[in-house]
Amino acid sequence: MCGIVGYLGNRQATEVLVEGLSKLEYRGYDSAGVAINIGEELSVRKFKGRLQVLADDLTAKPINGGLGIGHTRWATHGEPSDVNSHPHFNKEKTIAVVHNGIIENYLELREELQKEGYVFLSQTDTEVVAHLVDKFYEGNLLEAVYKATEKLRGAYALGVVCKDNNNELVAVRKDSPLIVGVGEDENFIASDIPAILKYTRDVIFLENDEYVHMQGPKVTILDENKNVVEKKINEINWDIEAASKGGYDCFMTKEMYEQPKGVEDTLMRRLDEKGRIKLDDIKITKEDLEKINKVYIVACGTAYHAGLVGKYAIEKFAKIPVIADIASEFRYSDPFVDENTLIIIVSQSGETADTLAALRDAKAKGARVLSITNVVGSSIARESDDIFYTWAGPEIAVASTKAYTTQLTAFYMIALNLAMTKGSISDEEYFASIEELRKIPAQVEKVLECNELVGQIAEEIKEANDIFYLGRGVDYSLAMEGALKIKEISYVHAEAFAAGELKHGSIALIDKGTPVVAIATQGKLFEKMVSNMQEVRARGARVIAITQEGNTEVEKSADRVIYIPKVDDMFASITAVVPMQLLAYHASNIRGLDVDKPRNLAKSVTVE
Ligand code: G6P
Repeated sequence: MCGIVGYLGNRQATEVLVEGLSKLEYRGYDSAGVAINIGEELSVRKFKGRLQVLADDLTAKPINGGLGIGHTRWATHGEPSDVNSHPHFNKEKTIAVVHNGIIENYLELREELQKEGYVFLSQTDTEVVAHLVDKFYEGNLLEAVYKATEKLRGAYALGVVCKDNNNELVAVRKDSPLIVGVGEDENFIASDIPAILKYTRDVIFLENDEYVHMQGPKVTILDENKNVVEKKINEINWDIEAASKGGYDCFMTKEMYEQPKGVEDTLMRRLDEKGRIKLDDIKITKEDLEKINKVYIVACGTAYHAGLVGKYAIEKFAKIPVIADIASEFRYSDPFVDENTLIIIVSQSGETADTLAALRDAKAKGARVLSITNVVGSSIARESDDIFYTWAGPEIAVASTKAYTTQLTAFYMIALNLAMTKGSISDEEYFASIEELRKIPAQVEKVLECNELVGQIAEEIKEANDIFYLGRGVDYSLAMEGALKIKEISYVHAEAFAAGELKHGSIALIDKGTPVVAIATQGKLFEKMVSNMQEVRARGARVIAITQEGNTEVEKSADRVIYIPKVDDMFASITAVVPMQLLAYHASNIRGLDVDKPRNLAKSVTVE
C-alpha cells in the first residue's frame, strides 16, 4: 500500500511532507522517509517505525529545501527496516524514488541490473526503479522515468527527484492512486486528498499511465506517448476537519459517532419531495433489469460483509438471485458472468487492488458494473457504469465503521430502487420501508448510548482468548463483521458461526467462560437463536445477546443483553452492528493497543 507525497514550491518541503504523510498513515505506518533536494545534492532520511520517528529526527536536524518526496510504508517486499524504507536511491544518491504499489517483475529486473553492475541495498521491489531511472538518465529526468516505466510490470504510483535540478519533480500513476494538488506557485503529489488539503483544494485526478512533470511553479500532465493532456482541476469541497480527530480520543471513536450523520446524509439527500429514492448516478432501466438474471456482489473485508447483507436486501425486495463473493476469490474462479449479470462492487476506498481487478474482469465479460464507494473520483468509481457514493466522509481508522453502516444503507436503497424499477414491490411496502430507513439515524444515535454498558462487558471478558459470534440469516453476516472488528484491533481470536451449524463441530470449542456474542434481531429466527444461546450456555459460555427492545425473554438465556431500538427486522443490521464496533474498540483500549493503527494492517490495500 504505502502513501506518497511530493512537493515543489517555496515552503520547506520537509514540513509539507511530514504534514502530508501524517494524513496518509492509514495507508501504512511501519516506516517513513523523505528525500530533499538541498541544491546539487539529495538528503535522504528514513527510519523504521511510526512517522513520529522521522518527524523527531527532522526537528532535531532540519533539512532545508523546497523540493522533496516522502513516503509512509506498509511492507510488502522486505521487512520493515531503515534500509527497506523509502525513498530508494541510486548508488550515488543522485536520484531518489518513492513508490506505492508492487513491481511484479522486480526479480527479473534486479537480476538484469545486477549483471550490469548495480548493487542493491534493500529487499524491496522499489529499488529497481531507482536503478532503472539511473540507467536511463542522461540529463533528462522525465525521459528517464518514461524509459524506466516501460520496463515495469505491476502497479505503481511513483515520485522521482534528481539532485541535478531543484526545480523538477516527476511522477507517474499506474493502478495505484495518485493525485496532483495545484497551488499558487507550488504543487503537490499525493496518494490521497487529505495529504494536501491543508495547502490547496484544487486537485487533478490522474488516470493510469499519466505522467506528472513539475518544473518550478508549472505542472504538466502527459500521457504515455508524451502528449500533453488537458486535465480538469476539481475543487474539493470537504474540510480537513472531516479528516482529523476533532476532540475524540481516536479516529475510530469519532467515526463510530459520525454514523448517524453518515447514514442520514447517505439516505436523506437521495429522497425526492415525494419521499421516493432518487439515484442519479444509477441508470438501470426496467428494460435493463429484465435482462439481468443474477447479481454478483464482490468486495473485500468489511465491504464484503456489507455485501452479505446486501444479498438479503436485493433478494428480498428485487427478487433477483445474488451471489456475494470475496474479490480475491472471484477473480481467480470461473464465475458465471456475462452481459446478463449485474456486478455490484463495494469498496470504501475505491482503490482496493483485488476489488478493482474483479471489476475489470467482470467488465471484460460484458457485465454491467455498479459500484458502492466512499471516495469520489476513485478508480472503482471511474471504471463503473453506475455509482452509489456513500456519504460517510473520510474514514481514517483501519477498522471500518461508518463506511460499513453507510454501505448497508446504500444496499437497502439500491434494493428498494431496483425493486421499484422492476415492479417487484408494492407501493405500500416501498414507502413503509423508506419510513423505517428514515428512523435509522436517530436509532443509531440511541444505540451509541450503550457505550458504557459495552465498556463494562469488555472489562468482564478481558481475559478471554477466544470470542465467538453467533447469528442466523442476516445476523450471521453481522456476526462475521463483529468478529472481524475484534480480531482487527484487539488481536483476540474471534470466529463467527451460523448458529444452527455450531453443533456440527465447533461447539466443542466452547468452554467455561468463553464469551459468545449472540445476535438475535430476526423475529422468525428468534426462538431458534434463544435455543442456541441456551445450548452454549449449558456448556459454560458467557452469553452477550444483542436484540431488539421488547425481546426481554432473552434475559433468561444470556448473561448480558444489549438492546437495540425496535425496527423492521430487515433494517436491524445498521443498528445491531454498533455494539459490536464498540466492543472491539473497548477490547483494544483495555489492552492498551493502538485502536486506529492495528499491527500488520493498513486501511487501503492497493496491492494484491
Ligand atoms: C482493508 C481494510 C478493511 C477494508 C478492506 C476493503 O483490509 O483494513 O477495513 O474493509 O481493506 O477496503 P475497501 O476500501 O475496498 O472497502
